[in-house]
Order: sequence, then structure tokens, then C-alpha cells
Amino acid sequence: MCGIVGYVGKSAATPILIEGLRKLEYRGYDSAGIVTQSDHSLNVRKTVGRIANLQDLLAHEPLEGSIGISHTRWATHGAVNRENAHPHFDQSGRLALVHNGVIENYQKLRDELIEKGEIFYSQTDTEVVAHLIGRIFEKNGKRDRAGLIEAIRHALRQVIGTYGIAVIHADVPGVIIGARHGSPLVLGIGNGEHFLASDVSAIVPHTHDVVYLNDYDIVSLQEEGFEIDTLAGSGADYRISKVEFTAADISKGDYPHYMLKEIFEQPNSVRDAMRGRLSVEEATAKLGGLEMSNSELRSVERLVFSGCGTALHAGMVGEYLVESLAHIPTECEFASEFRYRNLPMTRDTLVFVITQSGETADTLAALRESRRKGHRTLGICNNVASSIARESDGGVYMHAGPEIGVAATKSFTAQLVIMNLLALLLGRIHHLSHADGLRMISELEKLPDLVAKTLEVNEQVRRIACKYARAKSFLFLGRQFNYPVAVEAALKLKETSYIAASGHPSAELKHGIIALVSPEVPSFFIAPEDAVFEKNLSNIEEVKARQGPVVAIGTEGNKSLARIADDVILIPEAPDYLTPILAVIPLQMLAYHTAVELGCDVDKPRNLAKSVTVE
Ligand code: G6P
Repeated sequence: MCGIVGYVGKSAATPILIEGLRKLEYRGYDSAGIVTQSDHSLNVRKTVGRIANLQDLLAHEPLEGSIGISHTRWATHGAVNRENAHPHFDQSGRLALVHNGVIENYQKLRDELIEKGEIFYSQTDTEVVAHLIGRIFEKNGKRDRAGLIEAIRHALRQVIGTYGIAVIHADVPGVIIGARHGSPLVLGIGNGEHFLASDVSAIVPHTHDVVYLNDYDIVSLQEEGFEIDTLAGSGADYRISKVEFTAADISKGDYPHYMLKEIFEQPNSVRDAMRGRLSVEEATAKLGGLEMSNSELRSVERLVFSGCGTALHAGMVGEYLVESLAHIPTECEFASEFRYRNLPMTRDTLVFVITQSGETADTLAALRESRRKGHRTLGICNNVASSIARESDGGVYMHAGPEIGVAATKSFTAQLVIMNLLALLLGRIHHLSHADGLRMISELEKLPDLVAKTLEVNEQVRRIACKYARAKSFLFLGRQFNYPVAVEAALKLKETSYIAASGHPSAELKHGIIALVSPEVPSFFIAPEDAVFEKNLSNIEEVKARQGPVVAIGTEGNKSLARIADDVILIPEAPDYLTPILAVIPLQMLAYHTAVELGCDVDKPRNLAKSVTVE
């Protein structure tokens, strides 16, 4: 949700900033802007739309300077236009600021500033922060780095909301100041150059030494060094970390889109999610990051999963898994509703928040609310250095590697693997026998190969996608473990192809949804040979009886589906609890190929952002 990149060093700033913004484009792509400092002045370029537009503009109107800050926007306050694109300036026009987050009291601050004579040029919440800092800076009269830091500190005390900001001032040459509260910021430490970004992917082509800033940190970067303190001035506690992944990990490689690359990475990401976590000796899963003994886990009476979007759907599968394998009452709750629903939770309720990015504002709010109530709250995260990873009481990393495509794919299957590990661990503490545990381990170990085998349906799914791409809506239906997969499939299609789609338990069809069935509306049934296969078959018959086209996802070797469905996509045989991991793959492919067929921007769908850091 908005991306920030800053650079100070000896090289030309513009190419580094543009390249960095490209890496952060998944965070928003409504507009983009860049400001560099040279000869005691600031020079700015802004465009509406993708980074490519800004790059085109810079080709005609280049910017000099070896220091600058830049931004890619996902609009919250104010329309998508040039005026609202960052950077924003103070009244003097000598201070520029880029911001990720939401300033909740911006209207009040703006009214006060207007009363004092300040003139605003945008409808954004961000511009008030630039004016506020600039005003204090001018008033204090200390036109140096310390003066700028002081002004930022002072201004941010008046701000309510979330921010990751980067600031430069024409009168303070060679200095970038960054500060954060609620929105991520990472400092990159190079040799005679420093970087600031919302996400490490913008920094990793240049250096692997980074500092993940904490909330209320303020950092100042110069060519030759950096300083980190807290906004209160109490001295920051920071650590230099090594980034594990390389620039190659975040490139598209030979794939036309990140989404396709990430779908095809799933044999590895599924393997990595369970690597070192299966103990044959004890016939259980080892999840050391939970930091809970078996007796503590045994006293857990209830589990709550919470997350947004795809992560929520993984929690929904988790609900079925934990209840059926471990017999522990489990609930899955929208993170965005967690606080407002005020879920009654007994003392021994364990809460898990699930999130790829670890930065989703709604999920972070759920985590904080759960901890505030005194519940042990664990994170299932992909992004190791994220706010949620750091604020939770422990948890499990997905190890899925960087996921760049906005539509989540490999993070979902990694989350499902972790749900299985959790169910195995809790199951073994309760009623699962040693033999049951060993059986489940052996099935899990086969999974990466089964995922690889499932990828072979890609060409068939592409043809099916082309056949139905122009349908005006889609239905996805599944039962038990695969009901959440139906919901996830509908989300994928909506996200990438902008087609109305919904996912339901197959049996719900007859309670209203069946009214939608017609020759123009394809129904996709997830119907592997599991405990509910026969039931699914009856529901397919109901759709066919009403001339609805049916595509079924079934188990290899199955004959009965081919007799009634128009198309059948076969996935390898697996135990019921693992079928979601396999069944979702053709549905991810369906969303991908439909989007390609319709000419949609697969990796950057309209109106979306991968990391939603506002409520
Ligand atoms: C956004 C994205 C979704 C994603 C959700 C949760 O809404 O568009 O694709 O599933 O956030 O993201 P998280 O990073 O918390 O898993």
C-alpha cells in the first residue's frame, strides 16, 4: 500500500529510485513521483499511472542529483491525479515528503494550517505532514540536519495515524530523514551509499545489509553514514540483518508474469514450508517458533485463526483441519472484524494471525487486540522482518520466498502446509496415534511431487480458461476441506480478471444460488474422491439438469465425473486433508489464464495492492 524508495550516495539517484519503485509497484500503482536534490534545489517529476509512465517522462525530462526520494501510490485520500501524487511539499516548496499510511486527524490539522495561511495543492492526508514539518523548520530557524530532525519529531507528535515517511530539504543537502509508525521502512547500508524503502526488495539489488526500522524510529541517511534514534530521542535499539534472498529471487526469470512463476514455484515452496518440521521419531510436527511446550499446547481449549483475503481462506481450511484431526474447537475470523465482533474467548484460547506480508493493517489490528486481551497470539507469516512477525508472541514462518504477484498463490499453499503441520502437532498431543502421525508424515512428504504433477494440467486449464473467459460470472463449489478453496478460487478470478465470481459449499446451491445457474454461467466443482464425493456428484447433476456448464476438478482415475461434467481436470490422489493444496492449483491457473486471455494486468490488477497497510 504505497511504496517509498530513497537513495543517497555517489551514483545518479533516478535509475536507482525508478528500479526500486518497480520492485514496490505491487504496493500500489495509481501514480508515481520522484524528487531529487541538486545544487541546493529540489526537482520533481510526477505522473499518473504506472512507474513506466514516470520513466517515460524522465526520459524526456531527466533529473540530476545523487540523492532523492520517490513514491508509488495506492490512493486513499484524494482522487488519482497528478496533484495528489507524491512527493508533497511544504509552503516554502523547499521540503519534499513521501508517505505510506493514513493520517487520521489530517482534516483538523489541515483546517488549522489553512487558518494560519498555508495553501494546499492536493486532497491528500499526506500534504499536511509536509506543511507541518516545514512550518516548524522555518520557525525554528535551524537550517541543518539537526533542525530538520527536530522539526520532524515535533510535527509527528501532532499526527494521529500511520506513517512511513521520507523527507528531504533543499537547505539540508545530502540528507534523507525517514520515520515510521505502523508502516514499514527498511534502511539499506551500502558502501558510500544508503537506501530507504518500504520493502527490502527495492534494496536487495544494491546491498544485503539492512536495518528493519521499528515503530517510532527516526533515521537519517547520508552518503557516508546513518543514524537511528527514536522519535522520543531515547536511543533506538536496532540490529543490522542480512537479507536472505537475492535479486534473482525477485525477478520474473523466463516467465511472462510473476503470478505464473509463483504458481510453478509451488513444489519448492510447499517443500520449504515443511522442511525440518517433520519428526518421524515422534510421529509429529515440530514448530519450535510457537515457543510452547506440549503441556501448554495441551491446555489450549480453542483456536482462532484470523487474516484477510487469501490468508483468511487458509485459516478457513485450518478450521476444518484442526477440528477434524485434533478435535479442538476452531474458528476463523475476518481480521477486519476481529475487534468489532468482540469474540468471547476463554482464557485458554490460542490465536493465530495469518499473513503473507505481515503488514496488513487489519491483521495487525487483530493481533494487537488479541494480545491486549491477554491471549497468546502467534503469527503465520512469510515476511520474516514484518511488523506482525515482530509483534506476535511467536509463530511459524512460511518460507515461501518473495511473492510479488498481487494475487497470492504460493503463500496460500504454504499456509495450508502449515495448517496441516499444526493439525498434526495438536492431533498428536490429543488423540492421533503414533501410527496415524507416521501416516500423515508420509503423505506430507509426498506432497511436493504431487504438486509438481498437478502443474502438468496447465495447458488444459489454459484451454478451459479461453473457453469460459467471456462468461459474465462464475460459480465455484466445494465441500468440507474444499469449500474454502471454492471461495479462494472465486477471489483469484475476481482479483485478476474482474469477473463476478463466488464460492460456496456445494450443498448451499439449492438454497438460493442455483437461481444463478444458466448456460452462460460456468460452475467449477472441486470434487476429489473424498468423503463427500458422492454428495458433490449429486450437486453437479443439479446444475447439469439446469443446463449449467460444469468443470469438475477430480481425482486421477475417476470415471464418473467425465460422464456428467463438460470438462474434468484431474489432480493426483491424496488424503482428503491434503486435497485443497492440489485442487487450488488448477484454479490459480484458471484465474491466471483468464486474465491473460482478457488482456488484464495479471500481476498488478486494477484497484488492488498486495500489502494493504491501511484499514
Ligand atoms: C490484500 C491482497 C490479497 C491478500 C490480502 C492479505 O487484500 O490484495 O491478495 O490476500 O491482502 O494479505 P497478507 O499479506 O496479510 O496475507
